[in-house]
Amino acid sequence: MQLPRLQLAVCLLAILVQWSQGCFLNHEDHPYNIDYRAVIWSNMAARDESSRLRQYPSDLAIINARIFNGTGISPPSTLTVRAGLITSICTPANKKSCSIPPKFEGEVYDAKNMTLLPGLIDSHAHPANVSHLQALTAAGVTATMLAHCPSPALCASLENHAGLTSVIRGSFVATTLNSTHAAIVSGVSNPPLISNLTQIPSWVANQTSPHGSNAAFIKIIGSAPGPGLSPEAQKLLVHEAHKHHLLVVQHAATTVAFAEAIDAGADQIHHSTLDAPIDASLVQAFGKGNTVLCPTLTMMRAISELRQLPQGYEAAVETTRRLRAAGVSILVGTDANAQSQVPAGGQVQFGGSMHDELENLVKSVGMAPAEALRAATEVPAGRFGGLLRDRGVVQVGGRADLVVVEGDPTVDIGAVRRVRRVWVGGVLFAGLG
Ligand SMILES: *[C@@H]1O[C@H](CO)[C@@H](O)[C@H](O)[C@H]1NC(C)=O
Ligand SMILES: *[C@@H]1O[C@H](CO)[C@@H](O)[C@H](O)[C@H]1NC(C)=O
Ligand SMILES: *[C@@H]1O[C@H](CO)[C@@H](O)[C@H](O)[C@H]1NC(C)=O
Ligand SMILES: *[C@@H]1O[C@H](CO)[C@@H](O)[C@H](O)[C@H]1NC(C)=O
Ligand SMILES: *[C@@H]1O[C@H](CO)[C@@H](O)[C@H](O)[C@H]1NC(C)=O
Ligand SMILES: *[C@@H]1O[C@H](CO)[C@@H](O)[C@H](O)[C@H]1NC(C)=O
Ligand SMILES: [Zn+2]
Repeated sequence: MQLPRLQLAVCLLAILVQWSQGCFLNHEDHPYNIDYRAVIWSNMAARDESSRLRQYPSDLAIINARIFNGTGISPPSTLTVRAGLITSICTPANKKSCSIPPKFEGEVYDAKNMTLLPGLIDSHAHPANVSHLQALTAAGVTATMLAHCPSPALCASLENHAGLTSVIRGSFVATTLNSTHAAIVSGVSNPPLISNLTQIPSWVANQTSPHGSNAAFIKIIGSAPGPGLSPEAQKLLVHEAHKHHLLVVQHAATTVAFAEAIDAGADQIHHSTLDAPIDASLVQAFGKGNTVLCPTLTMMRAISELRQLPQGYEAAVETTRRLRAAGVSILVGTDANAQSQVPAGGQVQFGGSMHDELENLVKSVGMAPAEALRAATEVPAGRFGGLLRDRGVVQVGGRADLVVVEGDPTVDIGAVRRVRRVWVGGVLFAGLG
């Protein structure tokens, strides 16, 4: 009779940390009624196990650290971390003593010949289990935006894993019953799909509620020219989300869906146009609204290859180039997922795709390596409305989400693939040996 006692312990622990969604799960009282119980159980058990190993952030000093500062890398510096926060950075230029404090008892890591980066942020991914989080962390991704929450309890079970990627939860996708995305989420037996405008205020309120998705941002599916949300519905969703101080991430993969998303006032457009590059007037409208683009080119390439439409990827890249040239902020996002129902599902790997996407932005779009790195660090930290406030830059007082790579990725972006060490909130990731 081990199991019930363990289950009770896990639930009590969960209540202690003010989290209660996953306890006493059953089909009746669960908001979206899906049988994710096995994976939720396994995620919770892994989290419980890792907290038993007392993975608290220890004191840390990194010496000979050449730190990426947004444009270049600093001369060898010493950085210290306490309680998960960066407590000092000493460079030859700031003339502070670079020696480690005499009674220092934490880990001392020599980063000679390495580059220290702020943890990478995947602005669009769909992890569902602990293996996915481990793959993300191993690649240096210390935070990911969860672009769709299929079940609140599942999403909660992915949060707060010591030493693994932080998951920031988006809403259930806002879409209609007759859209192709409704088919993707059809594994959910009672999905909160939108059938008319009157429902929208309560739909958004439910998503932000702790009893609903408890979402940190709203995800809208723009599926035009296919069936889906009308332009009026998109506008109302954005309006209601903003009323709740929630940012809107809108899926759009065609020029007409881009136009509708911009018209609706979405804060971010994710994916890029597979039909044709957007024209000058749309580029201008995009720039005016201060909208951000997360082109997920790795996924756009996978879909173009699947459909044997090489011009699809070319169009997606050209749209990204035009928006970048117009000064639109670009985010690095992958759309990595393990969902067999979606096109190219399972083909874009968690973590590794982050490196592919950085390379696509440099080689296909023409970004400088440092610019692409900013699009994976300080740009999303600044553009997700406070959700990533203490991340994205290596600075005193910031969260110790840190990645060591061999070589200099500001010269050769491929160096990001050579991840040697990762700390998440000051906790060393155990999976790199
Ligand atoms: C970043 O590092 C580069 C190379 O060392 C240096 O030229 C630049 O001034 C630094 N920028 C900041 C903001 O410190
Ligand atoms: C650091 O790089 C230099 C020059 O490439 C090399 O000679 C040296 O052996 C390297 N040191 C370490 C510890 O890898
Ligand atoms: C997570 O899902 C993947 C399929 O995407 C599977 O191969 C893996 O075994 C799962 N990991 C866990 C811990 O359940
Ligand atoms: C909107 O949809 C809801 C739920 O399906 C339904 O109860 C309501 O009557 C509909 N309202 C209108 C105006 O069609
Ligand atoms: C909001 O949540 C309540 C309670 O779960 C549910 O009855 C209602 O249908 C939801 N409304 C929408 C529009 O999803
Ligand atoms: C189905 O799609 C069409 C075309 O986009 C749209 O006008 C209609 O409102 C949708 N119906 C429902 C129930 O969502
Ligand atoms: Zn996605």
